[in-house]
Amino acid sequence: MLTWYDVHRRDLPWRAAPGERADPYRVWLSEVMLQQTTVATVGPRFAAWVARWPDIASLAAADEADVMAAWAGLGYYARARNLVKAARVLAREHDGRLPDRESALRALPGLGDYTAAAIAAIAFGRRAVVIDANVERVVARLFMAAGKPAVRAAAESITPDERAGDFAQAMMDLGSAICAPRNPRCMLCPLAIACDGLKNGVQENYPVKAAKKPRPQRYGTIFWLERGDEVLLVRRPGRGLLGGMRALPTGPWDEVRPGLEGAPVSAEWRLRNVTVSHVFTHFMLELSLAEARSDAHTSLESGEWWPIAQIDSAGLPSVFAKAARAIRGE
Ligand code: ADE
Repeated sequence: MLTWYDVHRRDLPWRAAPGERADPYRVWLSEVMLQQTTVATVGPRFAAWVARWPDIASLAAADEADVMAAWAGLGYYARARNLVKAARVLAREHDGRLPDRESALRALPGLGDYTAAAIAAIAFGRRAVVIDANVERVVARLFMAAGKPAVRAAAESITPDERAGDFAQAMMDLGSAICAPRNPRCMLCPLAIACDGLKNGVQENYPVKAAKKPRPQRYGTIFWLERGDEVLLVRRPGRGLLGGMRALPTGPWDEVRPGLEGAPVSAEWRLRNVTVSHVFTHFMLELSLAEARSDAHTSLESGEWWPIAQIDSAGLPSVFAKAARAIRGE
């Protein structure tokens, strides 16, 4: 795998040149971004981020609201909140540097087993077993390993003492380019000769997936309140889904359509004949759109007026950006 990697490795912006050590901050950031987001999407977002916050010190000093807005559209916003939190812990208690061991890394906000192992291996050259979805697929097929514990044991058995980070990234690149979920290109695979799955013609049956639970459907209403050429935006509560993000006001998200329940102000709300749908990890959401104009008497408890023409720079999560486009007939 290491020989294959030296020839076929993807040139990605967070990777060090061959033979060099990667910048731990960039490794950390990329691994967090890549947890739920594709390499293609992360590329430009990673570049913009490191241009703005090039190191741990600058991220620690950043305004959390700016960081949240910079994450807009990437989803799973707790990742961004935890990045700032961890940067501040590092600045305060670790001399502004990431620790180089899995156990110490795991103690930081937002760093789970995967991220800790990835940073220890890729940034610090320590032996660690790094299992993301690509690695899991390669290992499961190679050993016909069914279930997470079997995959972990198998990955553990082939992780080298030296260059564990390159090994992990080699497995990732192989999983992405060759050992694809469907129609793997086994003729090109450097592991073909050793692959139990291929030998038995069952490579595509691995990894064995647990049955997926159906996603429940929820309903909500978005309240689009205009004042002149501005619209009312709010900040969502710090915890929970889309926590801390700027947003359009909504009422409750419920099993039945909530209509105008939970409107931010009393006004002459009109429900539009348009809905916006969005898939979250644990449920699907259908949002109705209600519109009203604010008059001089409208009193607000919270929120801010945002120029509608600049709505794209508000840092709205995708579901609200989608709703804004629908309201404006785009
Ligand atoms: N996915 C997650 N981490 C990655 C990495 N370091 N290289 C390529 N793909 C990845």
